[in-house]
Amino acid sequence: MEVCRTVEELRQALAGRSYSLGFVPTMGAFHEGHLSLMRESVRECDQTVVSLFLNPTQFAPTEDLANYPKPFERDLELAEKEGVDLVFAPEKSTMYPRDTVRVRVTGISEEWEGAARPTHFEGVATVVLKLIEIVRPDVAFFGLKDLQQCAVIKELVKELFLPIHLRFLETVRESSGLALSSRNAYFSPADRESASALALELASLSHKIYSDSLRDQGLMHALQSTKDSLQAKGFQVEYLAAINLDTFRSTFRPDHKTRLIVAAKYKGVRLIDNLSVPPPEHPAFKR
Ligand code: PAF
Repeated sequence: MEVCRTVEELRQALAGRSYSLGFVPTMGAFHEGHLSLMRESVRECDQTVVSLFLNPTQFAPTEDLANYPKPFERDLELAEKEGVDLVFAPEKSTMYPRDTVRVRVTGISEEWEGAARPTHFEGVATVVLKLIEIVRPDVAFFGLKDLQQCAVIKELVKELFLPIHLRFLETVRESSGLALSSRNAYFSPADRESASALALELASLSHKIYSDSLRDQGLMHALQSTKDSLQAKGFQVEYLAAINLDTFRSTFRPDHKTRLIVAAKYKGVRLIDNLSVPPPEHPAFKR
């Protein structure tokens, strides 16, 4: 597996290619979620590039950029084991030589994560566009745990006519139901176990909406009661909503395009998650 630090090195490594290229953009601290994206890329494409870049522009000054886990050598080993061909690990000065450009996707990026983290999606859209321009892959792989991020990237690719195919893969979860996240590393083992209440509450809300065909007032009450129950378990809920997958606007008439989305802090760690209605198959989500 080759490791490139500069755009020139990467371009040289990929020069004159005639094979299909898969791309997995990451910020490192790999878990099974990242590895599942790499595995799928290796399965579908002739060659796979993984970028490993902790993008500063998607973090606000008050967020956890400085503490974000950075197990670089371990990440390289894991990527190699998955059969990744090349890792692109640039410095900030490589990605932002003059730092004069920001890309903003309007509409879909404005509520929920966009409201809670006002500069976040601008940073994501900017770095993803730069990475796509640098790597020029045929297919790029993203995890659905960051559901709104997936919607923003889809919009970016569509609106800028980027010649790339997007693949969005299901969230990988622990046996407790907790969605895998690099930020789970901040938890003690006991807190990590109790943090799974976020996914479990969301799953039981999803079951209830589906089985009782909840809508309008009934749905509003169910959302409020899940929020209350999470707060009682020590979660500070930032938002909990039923949204339409295409518009990311609240919906009170759930259908197959509805997703339940949640963001909450638990023991100082900010978690996000989302589920379909009814929830996907998972041992922890059985009724
Ligand atoms: O999902 C992530 O890890 C990041 O937001 C991404 C897409 C790699 C951009 O920095």
